[in-house]
Amino acid sequence: MPSPAPPPLHAVIVAAVDAHLARAVAEMDLPANLAQAVEYSLLQGGKRLRPTLALLSCEAVGAPRDRALPAAAAIEMIHAFSLVHDDLPAMDDDDLRRGQPTCHIRFGQAMAILAGDVLATAPYLHIARHVKDAAIRSRLIEELAAATLAMIAGQTLDTLGGFADGLTPCQRLELTHRSKTGALIRCACRLGAIAGEATESQLAALTAYGESIGLLFQVVDDILDVTQSAEHLGKRSNKDHAAGKLTYPSILGLDESTRLAESLGTQAIESLGPLGQGAQGLIDLCRYMAVRTK
Ligand code: IPE
Ligand code: IPE
Ligand code: MG
Ligand code: MG
Ligand code: MG
Repeated sequence: MPSPAPPPLHAVIVAAVDAHLARAVAEMDLPANLAQAVEYSLLQGGKRLRPTLALLSCEAVGAPRDRALPAAAAIEMIHAFSLVHDDLPAMDDDDLRRGQPTCHIRFGQAMAILAGDVLATAPYLHIARHVKDAAIRSRLIEELAAATLAMIAGQTLDTLGGFADGLTPCQRLELTHRSKTGALIRCACRLGAIAGEATESQLAALTAYGESIGLLFQVVDDILDVTQSAEHLGKRSNKDHAAGKLTYPSILGLDESTRLAESLGTQAIESLGPLGQGAQGLIDLCRYMAVRTK
């Protein structure tokens, strides 16, 4: 099935982010074999949605987009870390990611664990070295660390459970998705806002937007798992049900899940109201995220 094209600005941003990420890896001073596994997992493919959100959020608060580049690169590294570990045999046991063998299939499990460790650590060094303003630097580091912990908590709920008593399946599902995926997406928006020296009300608007699209994103990921082929997605599909995962299609059905994604998209765009014209890039990106097919 043809995929709807992302908004045109996305390509410009991806080129800037990719160049920045390649320089970031070159600065890491790693053994050649580890550098190869890190480059493989970070630099090849991927929609770069989280860095795009960071740059567009920075622009939405009236600052130059590129001011958010170090934070944007940092969150993409955390995302890549989450994917490398998510694919391991002890987690989702996947052999395909971004259209190629997963890191552990290509390099072995020990190297995949270590490449994930690099991608979980290097972002903080990257921000520490590349963000000059001390107050902004410390806020960015705190945001990223908190969101990474939330993502790890979400991966725990998704993989091993550990819910508080008394939650309905729907509440468990929402908590899992808001944590494992939503936290980094919300964080991407906040990082961009903070890098752009947002006012409190701008930050609040972007946080609300990030929360809606964060959940929207994983609802759509669950839908794509049951509606698209591995060939189209570049990762295995139809695995969530067999693995006993709690997903939106399994709880609400496909139609209701699609309606939920649409209403989260509407909510997200409404949240951007206070930001005016500067938020057009985020509006376009949200529309794309709701209808993407990969
Ligand atoms: C996949 O994220 C993992 C989820 C949180 C669902 P993306 O769909 O953004 O993956 P890439 O970066 O484009 O490969
Ligand atoms: C992944 O969720 C979330 C994180 C990696 C944090 P999934 O397990 O659904 O992601 P995919 O479908 O493998 O990309
Ligand atoms: Mg998973
Ligand atoms: Mg997975
Ligand atoms: Mg999935």
